[in-house]
Amino acid sequence: MSKKVFEYAQNLTPIQLTNLSVVVGQKIILDKINCKIKSNSITAILGPNGAGKSIFLQTINGLVSVQSGRLTFNLMENNQEIREQQAMVFQTPVLLRRTVMANMQFVSNLRNKESNRLLKNILNKVGLEGYEKKPARLLSGGEKQRLSMARALMVNPNLLLLDEPTANLDPYSLNLIEDLVLEENSIGKTVIFTTHDMSQAKRLATDVIFLNKGKVLEQTISKTFFKSPKTVEAEKYINGEILI
Ligand SMILES: Nc1ncnc2c1ncn2[C@@H]1O[C@H](COP(=O)(O)OP(=O)(O)O)[C@@H](O)[C@H]1O
Ligand SMILES: [Mg+2]
Repeated sequence: MSKKVFEYAQNLTPIQLTNLSVVVGQKIILDKINCKIKSNSITAILGPNGAGKSIFLQTINGLVSVQSGRLTFNLMENNQEIREQQAMVFQTPVLLRRTVMANMQFVSNLRNKESNRLLKNILNKVGLEGYEKKPARLLSGGEKQRLSMARALMVNPNLLLLDEPTANLDPYSLNLIEDLVLEENSIGKTVIFTTHDMSQAKRLATDVIFLNKGKVLEQTISKTFFKSPKTVEAEKYINGEILI
């Protein structure tokens, strides 16, 4: 990794959203959002279906254009170097129709010159050692998602963005991905994830941002959110009363 990128890696957080709005077509999807992602936190973006959670992550990842307001990474506007310090994992894995190895190499060639050893290490971490030659399309859902995580880790991101990374996964893959999130966070990475699994949010999150209809209704530390939600909407959502 070049020195320049390393310096950026130290300085990606806090992430600040100020009066930020996103409009798709005629619809306001994120409505004057104000919130802050702290350095080295694990932030759960919670809220019912259609609340804007995925668009929130995509906005931070620079995949969606901001209509008005500001998004800053340690006071800097988003740019290519900042984006290269982020890795996104989608609910439905996006993989090349090639082998496991080719999927890993594609990212490493593109983003940096990580050694073969690192690649094997990471495959080992996600329980896919020995799968190198297997076509990615033949993997199970859980294996595909673990490969997506492995690809994300190959770029050694400072910020991990995970959109419902364990929805519908088998318990082994779910546990493994949760352990990876905690491990990456313990070595200084900031994580933002979405989930509909309240136990998972409690297990992983240090902080919670609760979205409803494109607005931030609550932002607080996780324990406070679950112990004493301030809004009726959040209380209902936590108790499973809002349809998801
Ligand atoms: N490409 C798009 N075009 C139009 N509307 C969209 C698009 N993507 C998302 N939306 C709308 O934006 C809202 C928020 O979507 P999303 O962020 O996917 O919600 P969540 O992830 O919380 O379920 C929804 O009402 C959805 O229909
Ligand atoms: Mg979503």
